Amino acid sequence: MKDKIKTMTDAAVKQIKACMSGAEVNEHRVRLLGKSGEFTALLRGLKDLPADERAAAGQLLNNERKKLEDLLDAKEAAFKKSELAARLKNEYIDISLDTRVRRGSLHPLTLVTNEIVEIFIGMGFSVYDGREVETDYYNFEALNLPADHPARMMQDTFYITDKTLLRTQTSTTQVRVMEQTKPPIKMINPGRVYRADEIDATHSPMFHQIEGLVVDKNITMCDLKGTLEAFAKRFFNENTKTRLRPSFFPFTEPSVEVDATCAQCGGGGCRVCKGTGWLEILGAGVVNRKVLANCGIDPDVYSGFAFGIGVDRTAAIKYAVTDLRVMFENDIRFLRQFK
Ligand code: DAH
Repeated sequence: MKDKIKTMTDAAVKQIKACMSGAEVNEHRVRLLGKSGEFTALLRGLKDLPADERAAAGQLLNNERKKLEDLLDAKEAAFKKSELAARLKNEYIDISLDTRVRRGSLHPLTLVTNEIVEIFIGMGFSVYDGREVETDYYNFEALNLPADHPARMMQDTFYITDKTLLRTQTSTTQVRVMEQTKPPIKMINPGRVYRADEIDATHSPMFHQIEGLVVDKNITMCDLKGTLEAFAKRFFNENTKTRLRPSFFPFTEPSVEVDATCAQCGGGGCRVCKGTGWLEILGAGVVNRKVLANCGIDPDVYSGFAFGIGVDRTAAIKYAVTDLRVMFENDIRFLRQFK
């Protein structure tokens, strides 16, 4: 019996010392000292020993058992400690307030707006602010789009009342400026506009335009072409060429669409310009006589030209962005690229 106890203890000590985790230590505890454990079985066997051996064997068994228990406890405590330390390290969350001041950056649409505005200021334009909530009169009527005009179809918007709406175009500011200022007028107006459009890669119910208006004596299509070509060269690069395509806007007559050679490929054709070498950059035209008259300016004395630049589209061209939605999602990973 004595030898059996000794060999069992020696083996157990070795196994416990070799344990690699708290769970392993626990397995040995159960195996050795549990209800049906090896030492428990020996304890039960004591009663079968001759009476004179029983006391000494019992004593030894208890001592060895105690030794194992102490070893198991010590091992378990050590594992608990290191396992806790490892968990604390892995699950660490820094809950302290991050007080580092990070410098933000301007939104790409703001950058492009500022750049366009700067170019026109350089050509002697003044900057005006318009209203986003407008009346039907300024958004449509005064711009020669009466209530039943089919061109209204393309500019459905959000109505506040029958006669109050979110403006669909910055052209509204043309009217407001002409009512308040007498020629010569040379103004631009950057701002937000709204249309009841579904959001997709090229549409948003809110977008940005920059309106331009020049009114003076003897203003012609030549002034329009020269001014917008100078703008395109400054904005894209010196080699940029422009071309005018006939178009229609109720507030200009004649009306044109202005294309610039693609800044990505220089006109050779690429993904950005869909292989054509040209990109439409704005709508423009000679101010319709009716609009001048609506604003109290004599069309027999004065003439003018106007243009409307789509800022979002222009920014998309400039930064080769293929999906407009990134402009409005405010994903910090996108915005950080414009430092
Ligand atoms: N307002 C037009 C639009 O939103 C753009 C435009 C075209 C503005 C011609 C103009 C212009 O001033 O002359 O589609």
